[in-house]
Amino acid sequence: MNISVSRKAHFNAAHRLHNSNWSDEKNARVFGKCNNPNYHGHNYNLTVSVAGPVDSETGYVIDVKDLKDLIKTEVEDRFDHKNLNLDTEEFKNLNPTAENIAAVIWKLLREKLDERYNLKIRLYETERNFVECEG
Ligand code: NI
Repeated sequence: MNISVSRKAHFNAAHRLHNSNWSDEKNARVFGKCNNPNYHGHNYNLTVSVAGPVDSETGYVIDVKDLKDLIKTEVEDRFDHKNLNLDTEEFKNLNPTAENIAAVIWKLLREKLDERYNLKIRLYETERNFVECEG
């Protein structure tokens, strides 16, 4: 049996998808509207799921308050209302695709979580498009 606890979170951020090794034409062709030079925003929705053993004393896998605080510190405080390309260290040299944002968030949370937990995140860039990262 596998039990996981999930917490939803949200942040707004701007980005531009761009590969500086490519011509403007190729960037426009590959990234479309997301290559807009003046950036554009997304309402990112995040679900963080932590799986692991249920503690016999608390009955918890993880205290949701701790998970909430961790997401606030590592994700919301870092990325909410930021221009990912210009305002964050993580994406100065990394294309801020949903895949890369999910991977960065996963790593930030993973570093702060006890290794007994499995961590899975789901990042929605739009209502219909999401990326998952697990390990
Ligand atoms: Ni975009």
